[in-house]
Amino acid sequence: MNNYNKLINNLETLKLFKFKDKLDDYIDLINNKQKTIIDAIYELTELEIDSLKEKMIAHSIQFAGFPFYKTLDEFDFSFQPSINKELILDFNNLRFIERKENILFVGSPGVGKTHLATSIGIENARNNHSTYFINCNDLIQALKKAYLQNRLDDKLKTLSKYKLLIIDEVGYLPIDIESANMLFQLINKRYEKNSTIITTNKPFSKWGELFGDNMIANAILDRLLHHSHVINITGKSYRTKDIISSTSDEVND
Ligand SMILES: Nc1ncnc2c1ncn2[C@@H]1O[C@H](COP(=O)(O)OP(=O)(O)O)[C@@H](O)[C@H]1O
Ligand SMILES: [Mg+2]
Repeated sequence: MNNYNKLINNLETLKLFKFKDKLDDYIDLINNKQKTIIDAIYELTELEIDSLKEKMIAHSIQFAGFPFYKTLDEFDFSFQPSINKELILDFNNLRFIERKENILFVGSPGVGKTHLATSIGIENARNNHSTYFINCNDLIQALKKAYLQNRLDDKLKTLSKYKLLIIDEVGYLPIDIESANMLFQLINKRYEKNSTIITTNKPFSKWGELFGDNMIANAILDRLLHHSHVINITGKSYRTKDIISSTSDEVND
């Protein structure tokens, strides 16, 4: 086997697949005196590093557990004029993460709360920050399970460390007092340390009812709302926009 073939084998063993794929192109460039050997090797290693970074990003996004993959480019701000577009674009710059601020999206179903939270979460994951998305009810079930298995502290510790935790759909189901207590412990552990995004269909005035206890609701809100951005979305549901317009067409006919 000649050294060229041995080199190809070595690149495969080292899993430097981008380097291997582009090697022939770069040998041609060197032979044609269009690249120096240093530039060629440097650029080949850069390609390999870029590919590694993309793989790490894909892994972080998969780990985060988003319900779908949608970015802010896919969000039609003209459909939802109550939203301050500039502020949302600024969230995508992730300054709120540096400042350990929270974001609370409040509004009825279908107005885009989960879409916005997911888009910002994806941007956070792309920037190498640990990100975790969880539905509130699933979070409660996970905390209950951990409690029953005597590992609530570990679970809370893990959940408090994510640079960004997104708790989706707070308020869709009532929350019992034990669960409320565990949620409080989580929010309290994250308070001023890491950012949390909440989506909810319930105005804060109804959170006492939701948690069945005003004191715990206030304690949770107190920590969430200190250093926070509250985005009230008052428009129509995007999910039903086509159904509603076609139904009204029928009525008009
Ligand atoms: N303004 C919008 N532009 C584009 N798609 C939207 C918009 N608002 C909502 N959607 C889409 O409609 C669906 C419902 O939105 P979602 O964010 O899940 O609503 P919510 O969480 O407020 O109930 C999703 O598929 C979402 O991508
Ligand atoms: Mg939602």
